[in-house]
Amino acid sequence: MAEKSSKQAPRVATGDRAILPEGASTIPVYVMGKKYEVPESLTIMKAMEFVGFKFIRGAGCRGGICGACPTVYRKAGDYKIYFGLACQTVVEPDMFLAQIPFYPANRAKFDMETIEPTAEAIHALYPELFRCVACNSCTKACPMDVDVLGYISAMKQGNIAKAAEISFDCIQCGLCASRCMGELPQYHIGQLARRVYARYIQPKADHLRKRVEEINSGKYDKMLEDLVAMSKEELEKHYTEREREPDLASPGEWKPQDTQYL
Ligand code: FES
Repeated sequence: MAEKSSKQAPRVATGDRAILPEGASTIPVYVMGKKYEVPESLTIMKAMEFVGFKFIRGAGCRGGICGACPTVYRKAGDYKIYFGLACQTVVEPDMFLAQIPFYPANRAKFDMETIEPTAEAIHALYPELFRCVACNSCTKACPMDVDVLGYISAMKQGNIAKAAEISFDCIQCGLCASRCMGELPQYHIGQLARRVYARYIQPKADHLRKRVEEINSGKYDKMLEDLVAMSKEELEKHYTEREREPDLASPGEWKPQDTQYL
């Protein structure tokens, strides 16, 4: 190991991500074909930023929720293509990285106000459903471990509720569609199933209907007016002194003493 030069700049906490903490280990990765050394603990997104890339597209929540950062990568000596979310996947030595900020799959046009809540209506909007050959490439590509083939099969069988449930964790990144030899836009189909199910099929929540009626009847208007009229100090006092549910209360058992707004 080379001895430290006496002229080496001292490591200081500047907030600059390009200055490594003392003793940090780095690994080689390839971004768009060029080799870089990056700290081994970074996600793909942070590693790309570390070497100078700036995300103005293809990044959103940075928390694995929005689906904006689908990534494909390869590993040295391995012909397989791997998939992940750039904000969640930690770099490995000799990864070959690329970014797919957006996957342009066809999306059917429909009007949620007039669509028939039937499987036939969804089949008519997405007839390519029946080009699925059940190869399961979509499921293998999913960074959220959604059973994509499972919900596509449910939709082919006409089971909107099952398709909505299985696809619930989809974050619309589009990697499933990028791998489909039948050219299905799976993530759009799953989203339509969930929307149709939620709007027309799922049993309505009685307590929600009651609460909406109360809001529309003006039950909370006075309370809101009082809140809006409060000063910042009054609001803070009101907030910190509010009646709180105990942390260990059993679900459904606790009720506030003031029940006027229940
Ligand atoms: S940035 Fe939102 S899922 Fe990665």
